[in-house]
Amino acid sequence: MDKDRKKTGGTLKVVAIVGARPQFIKCAPISHELRKEHEEILVHTGQHYDPEMSDVFFDELQIPRPDYHLGVGSGSHGEQTGTILERVEDVLIQEKPHLILVYGDTNSTLAGALAAAKLHIPVVHVEAGLRSFDRAMPEEINRVVTDHLSDLLFCPTQTAMDNLANEGITDGAYLVGDVMVDALRHNAGIAEKKSPILRTLGLDKGDYYVATVHRPANTDDRHNLSAIIAAFSESGKKVVFPVHPRTKKNLREYGLWDSLSENILCIDPLGYIDMLHLMKHAKKILTDSGGIQKEAYVMGVPCITMRENTEWVETLQGGWNVLVGADKQRILAAILADVKTSADNSVFGKGDTAKRIVSVIHKNFCT
Ligand code: UD1
Repeated sequence: MDKDRKKTGGTLKVVAIVGARPQFIKCAPISHELRKEHEEILVHTGQHYDPEMSDVFFDELQIPRPDYHLGVGSGSHGEQTGTILERVEDVLIQEKPHLILVYGDTNSTLAGALAAAKLHIPVVHVEAGLRSFDRAMPEEINRVVTDHLSDLLFCPTQTAMDNLANEGITDGAYLVGDVMVDALRHNAGIAEKKSPILRTLGLDKGDYYVATVHRPANTDDRHNLSAIIAAFSESGKKVVFPVHPRTKKNLREYGLWDSLSENILCIDPLGYIDMLHLMKHAKKILTDSGGIQKEAYVMGVPCITMRENTEWVETLQGGWNVLVGADKQRILAAILADVKTSADNSVFGKGDTAKRIVSVIHKNFCT
């Protein structure tokens, strides 16, 4: 396939790769926009496969059913990335798209980008330029390599544009805002009207914390996970804790699962609508997720990030988001701290990112 064949003059055939929870959220607004004029072939790698980690997002966000389901499942990084690479390559050879769309920073992102680049199919990366500068995070490696393989790079923030420029990438980089904000703005009202989650869990608005923990640095280290759970126990309020499957497995393995304190309300992972509603009305959010830091900021809920770094540095301004690692005392201090500033919730865009992305793709490939 020839990259110079890129000006089509008409309709594009686009293969989009998704596989993990945040990618379903990111692809929804773009898929809807893209399909107005172009053909999208949606490929689900199967990196996330439990219904509550996958199907629920397709239903709630009205994402079209995937054209291919690669059924890759879990595995070591090499195994998972390698299997996706092999299976995406087959799809690309069969479909011969004009370009491939990849999202975020998971193993599905990297494998998709690599498969396309090797076949000389242009790679378009949504959420490019993010850096934590921490190569111990698998996502950091995925981001760096994917960006260097990409032809068009859509950055959510000026910081991301600057990170790319510092690595010599300026051609093809566009500042377009954050597509998760499109999804959030579209669904916040729906969540407010439709989600029964506060009633179901017997929660009063503003009187509970929401917590998520899924990063290997926290879940695969007994000391760190114990410290985090101890902080939740002593937080003085109900902590609603939708538990990622890996976290649950390790809580069991470390002997923590059966002795969790009563104020920790462990529940299965939630769909998008319930999670938005739960976060919106929390007093504070405790997390190690990237997307949740941003969602908390845009919704104006103070966030406590159980990591030592973040790609989303804008959220740290004014103390709205604080980095506390897996340190019990720092987590508890942040829970008690007053947050007086207000968040600038326009920093991640106005909710028109999908439109901007599709328009830039059109300009680059069709005219
Ligand atoms: C992955 C991404 C991470 C992203 C996160 C979003 C990589 C390296 N990591 O992390 O960037 O923030 O998704 O949620 O791509 N499991 C299940 N059922 C599932 C999925 C996973 O039980 O449906 C369990 C398995 O034990 C698996 C483990 O969770 O080994 C980890 O899953 P994996 O996809 O490797 O990484 P995540 O931690 O979910």
